[in-house]
Amino acid sequence: MDSGLENIVAAETILSDVDGQNGRLVIRGWPVETLAASMAFEDAAHLLWDGFFEGLPDVPELGARIGAAREEVLALVAELPAGLDVVSFLRAGWALLPDDESLEAAIRLAAAGPVLTAAAVRRGRGQAPIAPDKDISQSADFLRMLTGKVPDPAEARALDAYLVTVCDHGLNASTFASRVVASTRAGLVSAAVAGISALKGPLHGGAPGPVLDMLDAIGTPQNAETWIDGALARGERLMGFGHRVYRVRDPRADALKVAVARLPDTSGRIAFAEHIEGAVLGRLARKYPQRRLETNVEFYTALLLEALGLPREAFTSVFACGRVLGWTAHAREQIAEGRLVRPQSVYRGPVPEAA
Ligand code: COA
Repeated sequence: MDSGLENIVAAETILSDVDGQNGRLVIRGWPVETLAASMAFEDAAHLLWDGFFEGLPDVPELGARIGAAREEVLALVAELPAGLDVVSFLRAGWALLPDDESLEAAIRLAAAGPVLTAAAVRRGRGQAPIAPDKDISQSADFLRMLTGKVPDPAEARALDAYLVTVCDHGLNASTFASRVVASTRAGLVSAAVAGISALKGPLHGGAPGPVLDMLDAIGTPQNAETWIDGALARGERLMGFGHRVYRVRDPRADALKVAVARLPDTSGRIAFAEHIEGAVLGRLARKYPQRRLETNVEFYTALLLEALGLPREAFTSVFACGRVLGWTAHAREQIAEGRLVRPQSVYRGPVPEAA
């Protein structure tokens, strides 16, 4: 019995490899740093879906179809009830899409992510949704649907770097959930809804908001060491540091740090965060000399999404907008495997005679 399944290999994949000892993430043969520096969301969709869908078009045509699907799915927004948080809004909207195993289903899921996320943020502010523009890139349109303004190309590039960085990450909890559901042949929409349901838990996709809460609580560079020492003395975990799999620095943190550094730091927030990062790493190294605790993906995710004007309550949904590429690719890989996922359990309850 292995209750967290840490030592169980449950899939063979050609999609991505997480090397926790050496701090390497490889996605379809490429280091994540290379992809983050060079790819847009549409390129990552093509990279992950290639070989899993018959008739997958080239990147420009795929991008055009994703853009057209953004316009098509806008009608979903009016069907969703009031009072949902952003990630529940996205999950509920995805659940209304036609559920099958086709490329069209994957395209609609990818397209609906930004449309629903932006509409949910705006609804929370009492604002009407902004209709998509199929003729600009997914990342540029995502930011435009939030603010009403076509973003600076550097901002769209930074969002692309984020979405590409998180598009796949081995057999994490949400990807495993997607594969289990896909193995029943329920459809790609069901697989993605399973994925986002797993992702929304605080142990999986929920840390970047608290990173910003920590930076706000520290407030000034002068306050850093006292605040960090106090938190560690109370046994608190410092958000954005440490990882279950990576035993060295999370390579996604570096990929995002490069993307963040390209954005203007008008308020000095990024310089402040870098100062705090250094102080935390120094304190953690002193407290845990035997266990390397390094910066994880969530630290720079928080800074990047904040710099792009995304509110904290939308961070998990934005993560889902990138990871849906991985969920759909893994779902198709599992379907091709052709085996229902059905593990065993050990019964520890009473036997009929005792009951
Ligand atoms: N801040 C302070 N102490 C930390 C820490 C952090 N971020 N991460 C780990 N530690 C401490 C643990 O409390 C433990 O101390 P103990 O032996 O005194 O109990 C020690 O370091 C070893 O922890 P480890 O077993 O390596 O952690 P884990 O694998 O159980 O946890 C995380 C991994 C990610 C859950 C954990 O590092 C954490 O909670 N990080 C903060 C939240 C976060 O950033 N999550 C996003 C992850 S991508």
